[in-house]
Amino acid sequence: MTDQDLQNQIIQVLKTVKDPDLNRDIVSLGFVKNLTVTGGDVKFDVELTTPACPVKDQLKTECEQKVDAIEGVKAVSVNMTAQVRSSQHSQPILTCVKNIIAVASGKGGVGKSTISANLAVALQASGAKVGLMDADIYGPSIPQMLGIPISPPKAVGENKFLPHEKYGLKVVSAAFLTKEGQPLMLRGPMLGGIIQQFLQNVEWGELDYLVIDMPPGTGDVQLTLTQRAPLSGAVVVTTPQDVSLIDADKGVKMFQQVKVPMLGIVENMSYFICDGCNKKHEIFKRGGGRALAERFKVPFLGEVPLLGGVVEGGDSGVPIMISDTNSPASVAYKSLAGQVAAQISINQAREDKVDANFELAWKS
Ligand SMILES: Nc1ncnc2c1ncn2[C@@H]1O[C@H](COP(=O)(O)OP(=O)(O)OP(=O)(O)O)[C@@H](O)[C@H]1O
Ligand SMILES: [Mg+2]
Repeated sequence: MTDQDLQNQIIQVLKTVKDPDLNRDIVSLGFVKNLTVTGGDVKFDVELTTPACPVKDQLKTECEQKVDAIEGVKAVSVNMTAQVRSSQHSQPILTCVKNIIAVASGKGGVGKSTISANLAVALQASGAKVGLMDADIYGPSIPQMLGIPISPPKAVGENKFLPHEKYGLKVVSAAFLTKEGQPLMLRGPMLGGIIQQFLQNVEWGELDYLVIDMPPGTGDVQLTLTQRAPLSGAVVVTTPQDVSLIDADKGVKMFQQVKVPMLGIVENMSYFICDGCNKKHEIFKRGGGRALAERFKVPFLGEVPLLGGVVEGGDSGVPIMISDTNSPASVAYKSLAGQVAAQISINQAREDKVDANFELAWKS
């Protein structure tokens, strides 16, 4: 068999490998790149839409096994890569930022900032370029959680400034605009001004994902951001108790009203794993987040356990995703990052189909 015949067979076989999230085969999705066949040695790249793809390893194994089973193939080498696509269409602001994820909740203290910080680290660890915007103007906690000392941001040019950098993340926070330990005292219009600066005056550089840690509730800042920032979608955090779920319900409705896509709901502090007996204790009742997601017909993105190490990570400035990547909480954050990135890719694929249909209708 010639190399060309083999190449054709390989493509046919790869057409049977389906991306389960996008529900299409990897050849028609255009993921297979740089296929070479030399005397039975096969090499190709699979270029996914996110390096945080939750089924990356599964797809690689399936490609290897299926191609290896073809007669005449001696060796297979599959290189998994990713090219994150942009959700922004002709938006005049944040043009270098491909996708913006708002992390919100109806109620305070449910773990938004902790999730934002660890989600950003998990996305970055997968290989993506990530920024983190602390939009909790009155109660900024991201600098503390990432261990970034308070100092004013560096100015560039007339009215732009550079984000701080830590753990490979680019970070802005209102805390950097104050003197350490001093509260920021602002009236309404000034608040809008700070958000406007965060959206227009930061030199982020190229980012695949910008995570926004929102203040609690559905107030001014949230509305300004949902209306002015070209959000790819929102993640709503809840704890399992009814009081939190009622407020999460309001959070979801706010995003739906302003037509920001819901990436999904995550349940924080779902259960506690006891050191002594290794048993999962469901102290706050587990499962409310999943039930809420089902009611709104939005994705359920997962559960994060209640863990002392998460608090220590937040207080010490070294998130648990950095200090202990194998802890049950870090495993949950990595899975969350995969789910969030996958939802963004799914929404983009859906829009592409709408665009394609539109194009067909227009041509016919
Ligand atoms: N999975 C977890 N296990 C244990 N503690 C947690 C977990 N998630 C968050 N916490 C702790 O709960 C507290 C509140 O978390 P965090 O500040 O992230 O909440 P928040 O929703 O951002 O609060 P706010 O509404 O005030 O901005 C912190 O002390 C944090 O360390
Ligand atoms: Mg917070």
